[in-house]
Amino acid sequence: GAPVEADISGLKPGEKLTVEWRGKPVWIVRRTKEQLDALPKVDAQLADPKSQRKQDELTPAYARNESRSIKPEILVVVGICSHLGCSPGDKFNPGPQPSLPDDWVGGFLCPCHGSTFDMAGRVYKNKPAPDNLEVPPHMYLSETRLLIG
Ligand code: FES
Repeated sequence: GAPVEADISGLKPGEKLTVEWRGKPVWIVRRTKEQLDALPKVDAQLADPKSQRKQDELTPAYARNESRSIKPEILVVVGICSHLGCSPGDKFNPGPQPSLPDDWVGGFLCPCHGSTFDMAGRVYKNKPAPDNLEVPPHMYLSETRLLIG
């Protein structure tokens, strides 16, 4: 598939943009400071906090950091669950739900079997999904233009 360009100039903190790449949804999220601050606090609850598994497939070298991104505030991930391929929904701030821990700080919840991911697409422990969400190959063409693929 051809690379896809995305204009993120209108993306506000806390907002998500979806573009299609190779028939898959790619999410681009401008994370808030609170969302970024929460990342290191949930490390102990994650299956692969440092994104060490399947690095060649899931986490390009430039995203092997706490925020899993080139620019800390901008998350770019493929929105497909590593369990059976459903697309997790936005649960940035869903309030109490039986499938979420009491101290849920926001992230993504897969509607199919309840896997949860943090705001860097890292999967929580003891969930059916084995792996973090994929960070697709991407680069910045300018401050506001991303090339995915
Ligand atoms: Fe996401 Fe099963 S497909 S938890």
